Amino acid sequence: MKARVVPLAPGDTVTRKARRALLQRAAAVTVGPLPTCPEAAAFWSERAWSELAAVPAMSQSALAWLRHGGDTDSLGSLMQMGVDEVRHAELARDVAEGLGGYEATIPPGAAWEPALLGEPSGMPLPFWVVANGCISETVSLALMQARAAHTHHPVAARVLRAVMKDEAVHQRVGWNLAKQVLPAVSRPMQKELGEYARAMFEMLFMTFATRGLTPRHRQRARHIREVTAARGLGACPPDEADHVCQAVIEGTIMPRLRGLGVPVPAPR
Ligand SMILES: [Fe+2]
Ligand SMILES: [Fe+2]
Repeated sequence: MKARVVPLAPGDTVTRKARRALLQRAAAVTVGPLPTCPEAAAFWSERAWSELAAVPAMSQSALAWLRHGGDTDSLGSLMQMGVDEVRHAELARDVAEGLGGYEATIPPGAAWEPALLGEPSGMPLPFWVVANGCISETVSLALMQARAAHTHHPVAARVLRAVMKDEAVHQRVGWNLAKQVLPAVSRPMQKELGEYARAMFEMLFMTFATRGLTPRHRQRARHIREVTAARGLGACPPDEADHVCQAVIEGTIMPRLRGLGVPVPAPR
């Protein structure tokens, strides 16, 4: 059997700093009293499913990073990011509870499937890096920033701010991994990554915003966001969410990915 090398190399300065920032922020945020609002409870339940779906994505990324033989600071950051996502899911669940009740059943046809994402995957590392660090974390942070501007209730605002601070570090770690991994990818895989990114954009419009949903689902998703935004409980208006998604994809993610050698086609 071939001998295996285990270098356990430390990461670069950016990764080390980011990892330290994540470790220092484990302090618990508490959820205080909230008004009853079924729409906002539904919105925060969706948030909880979405945060939970990020847990297997981080775990898969960490496993792929380990297979790749990457540095230990990045590995530690990815594992810590998974822990953060569990905490975000719990916080969102607690906020939903406070608003009238956490909805535990994901509606049929919805795109969040934490359990499915948790199934074993042999997808190569560059795909996980693009999916998580570059796309999901970047869109999610931009949307949280937009939501924060409409969030006036102190409890919702406190939770949102705490989660946003984590997501900003997650995004930084993600793009730093991309910088290390993507330029070394073969030409055919770069093309595949570009197509994969485009397919992900379409999916994200449905999970993070309201575009591409069936008319019935869309009407409900819009209503939930309109009421939650108007009451300052953590959402931004649906048109703004759609716009933010589009702007961050076209203005930030696509140019940055192209700069790292991934030829992303424009979304259809
Ligand atoms: Fe999160
Ligand atoms: Fe995250």
